[in-house]
Amino acid sequence: MNMKEIMAMAPEAEPARQKYFMELAKASVAKIAEEKGRPLTCFISTFGCQMNARDSEKLLGILQEIGYVEGTDEKSDFVLYNTCTVRENANLKVYGRLGYLNGVKRKNPDMMIALCGCMMQEPQVVEKIKKSYRHVDIIFGTHNIFKLAELIFARLNSKKMVVDIWEGTDAIVEDLPIERKYPFKSGVNIMFGCNNFCSYCIVPYVRGRERSRNPEDIVKEIEGLVADGVVEVMLLGQNVNSYGKTLKDPISFAELLRRVEQIEGLERIRFMTSHPKDLSDELIEVMKDSKKICKHFHLPLQSGSSEILKVMNRRYTKERYLELVDKLRAAVPDIALTTDIIVGFPGETEEDFQETLDVVRKARYDSAFTFIYSKRTGTPAAAMENQVPEDVVKDRFDRLLKEVQDIAAEVILRDEHTVQKVLVEEIDSHEPGFVTGRLSNNTVVHFKGDASLIGKIVEVSLDEAKGFYFMGSLVKEG
Ligand code: SAH
Ligand code: SF4
Ligand code: F3S
Repeated sequence: MNMKEIMAMAPEAEPARQKYFMELAKASVAKIAEEKGRPLTCFISTFGCQMNARDSEKLLGILQEIGYVEGTDEKSDFVLYNTCTVRENANLKVYGRLGYLNGVKRKNPDMMIALCGCMMQEPQVVEKIKKSYRHVDIIFGTHNIFKLAELIFARLNSKKMVVDIWEGTDAIVEDLPIERKYPFKSGVNIMFGCNNFCSYCIVPYVRGRERSRNPEDIVKEIEGLVADGVVEVMLLGQNVNSYGKTLKDPISFAELLRRVEQIEGLERIRFMTSHPKDLSDELIEVMKDSKKICKHFHLPLQSGSSEILKVMNRRYTKERYLELVDKLRAAVPDIALTTDIIVGFPGETEEDFQETLDVVRKARYDSAFTFIYSKRTGTPAAAMENQVPEDVVKDRFDRLLKEVQDIAAEVILRDEHTVQKVLVEEIDSHEPGFVTGRLSNNTVVHFKGDASLIGKIVEVSLDEAKGFYFMGSLVKEG
């Protein structure tokens, strides 16, 4: 068959079309491997958030299906960067790595370099790569990751860079292979995209409009994961609290949680991220009654100043936020709260910053991700004139970080000397003979143990708090 006939025979519907291209790509990869006398290797480097991490598991699933085996570094035959553009430094890192790959590819001209993820949804980025990074083979975006096999097949049959970026999509393609990083826990997408357009944020532009998966598909996926050994799931979306609103038969996020709770064999449920403006009383009720939802709530604050929150287009006030914190604590007294905070948003004054510190002191977070405001081209905030000078931002950032860390070190003492259930995740990377696990409230604990404990939920005595983690000892297995 020639290329024209091959393309004419490709099914139009998904996932059938991708299964067709996976078979074709598999045959091509097998042929090259035979010529080389060794299997071809692949390597994915993931930047950014858990959405990207989950996408990378899907991408690795496809690559393995095609016949690549997972390599250990960027000297692999197929190197893929799944990029992030939420802040400028995430973006700059990728250009740095691409420069390095140029040298690697000179030594292995058959190597393929692919780029995908949020950065690729920015037209000026793609232009720059096409012009200055000619050694890249494939560029695709956030909406068509399911097409990887088709794109590889296209590249193998052409000498040109393959570029396929979609501006948006309504499609959610189910039932493609996925290779999970952890056997016992997994992210599960419940929705894609974001409709909130916080004025500093690029995500809605690069991830498209909000789309929820059908609850039946989500439950089916989790049942499959549980049958495969998963005990903990993390339900993923940019704003899980608005899950289900756009479905043909709308359901609430709280209702989805009730259904997921019913899944036998599933032990722990986490979710990320909750937007305060959509946090419902119904959700708080479900958390109160649940045996499986973890006692952890990530509730991004961004700023404690109602003025700044307004310009950020967050659609809640400082008072409303603190009210939500109180409600959560009343319903689930030992809940751990974490947050995201941005300092140096345009127009932020010392008074505004003091409001942020005030919320930090009142909410008493278990931990907080603190970010220096980063100007993202195309967002409304980037065009604002009153950008805050760098030295002022840096000073506020340092003060915020100290406050956050001091409070976290106090808050963690709440659990010291208690015995808690811990999901063991991995061998401790620092202490030989130790393993590392997580409490329901997401705090990390290290204790003596071996690989046989990984993936099990065990009881651990939290002997000593060390700032933001515990040293503990195993009390009871299983
Ligand atoms: N959907 C999530 C956040 C996704 S981005 C939510 O609404 O909470 C993760 C975090 O990155 C955000 O919470 C915010 O704190 C930070 N962030 C986003 N855009 C940023 C920017 N331009 N500069 C600095 N931090 C930013
Ligand atoms: Fe960005 Fe706001 Fe959407 Fe979160 S909710 S992804 S911060 S626009
Ligand atoms: Fe980054 Fe995209 Fe996530 S911009 S934070 S990888 S949604």
